[in-house]
Amino acid sequence: MKQYRVGIIGATGMVGQRFVTLLSGHPWFTPVILAASASSAGKTYEEAVSARWVMDKPIPDEVKDLVVYDAIKDMEFIAANVDFVFCAVNMSKQETQMMEEAYAKLECPVISNNSAHRKYDDVPMVVPEVNPEHILAIEAQRKRLGTKKGFIAVKSNCSLQTYVPPLTPLRKYGITKILACTYQAISGAGKTFARWPEMVDNVIPYIGGEEEKSEQEPLKLWGHLENGVIVNAAEPDITSQCIRVPVSDGHMAAVFVSFKETPSIETIKEIWNDFDNPIADLELPSAPKKFLNYFEEQDRPQTKLDRMLENGMAVSMGRLRPDTQYDYKFVCLSHNTLRGAAGGAVLLAELLAKKGYMD
Ligand SMILES: NC(=O)c1ccc[n+]([C@@H]2O[C@H](COP(=O)([O-])OP(=O)(O)OC[C@H]3O[C@@H](n4cnc5c(N)ncnc54)[C@H](OP(=O)(O)O)[C@@H]3O)[C@@H](O)[C@H]2O)c1
Repeated sequence: MKQYRVGIIGATGMVGQRFVTLLSGHPWFTPVILAASASSAGKTYEEAVSARWVMDKPIPDEVKDLVVYDAIKDMEFIAANVDFVFCAVNMSKQETQMMEEAYAKLECPVISNNSAHRKYDDVPMVVPEVNPEHILAIEAQRKRLGTKKGFIAVKSNCSLQTYVPPLTPLRKYGITKILACTYQAISGAGKTFARWPEMVDNVIPYIGGEEEKSEQEPLKLWGHLENGVIVNAAEPDITSQCIRVPVSDGHMAAVFVSFKETPSIETIKEIWNDFDNPIADLELPSAPKKFLNYFEEQDRPQTKLDRMLENGMAVSMGRLRPDTQYDYKFVCLSHNTLRGAAGGAVLLAELLAKKGYMD
């Protein structure tokens, strides 16, 4: 497989640090440029992150001494010296949109964790095991942007990556409605307990913008291609409540679901166990061997025990049972900064590289 030179925009942040850690020793992708805001630019990566480094492993030696670039001012240099960039920044939506589009127009593909471009019908928003075919929309996007190579591809919001994967193979039974309550880790806000002491022994019943994303983004993931662009699915109805809980990493969801033709509990467990994975044959380095994992134990999945399953790239489910108002209810869990953020973006980039979009 070809080797790719990679840039990380927002490399000093929570998700950026995950990218740096995940790409250390990656068989296809080598980070050669790290970029962040003007306040980090000019420092070595080690100086720029200093006390903000929150990963379990130390800063990889090969990036410690890289000098951090200014993602805006040094854009032309960065675009000219990498094959593509990962992007995870805490800028305004408008600034993020302008920056990501500018990189794409400089013929530098952007794999983004930000929400700024998620609603565009020619910008694929992909969970590789759910809707890999949506990358075909890149052709229409390249026409709109006037590029030959440059494009933007995005990841979906992290919370719904707990419940969209297990519900996807059940869509053939006609899902009519979903209620999802998410219990989300503090790293989802780019925070640790040291930086957010108010979260110790506390629950905050509000995460700005999260419920709208949790209700709308599944419809794009479940959408289909028409005339080269993505048309959102018209159903099911989805309602959600998103709650911040005192957990470092790992988003849990309590899900209620009804069907037009209700499958049995045994059938659902079989479908999950034998999940027909559309990327199984591509041998992507970050793909989990088993994407969907059902636990029979009453008290699983648990955040601390199960979030790192398959290097944090698996989704776990448990407690599937009948409900009094919906057909069934169950719980599910995924790691928000791995499967839900940097890991999912790396897997998406691997899919795009394998399919030739980075060349
Ligand atoms: N955390 C998660 O679990 C998660 C999951 C999915 C998606 N996301 C999304 O990923 C993005 C980043 O989240 P995060 O948690 O990593 O945030 P974060 O820890 O606050 O990091 C933000 C990064 O953006 C950089 N930045 C800020 N202003 C900039 C500018 N003007 N130009 C260039 N870089 C700039 C920062 O650089 P400096 O250090 O120089 O300020 C830093 O590297 C957000 O859009 C978030 O919604 C996060």
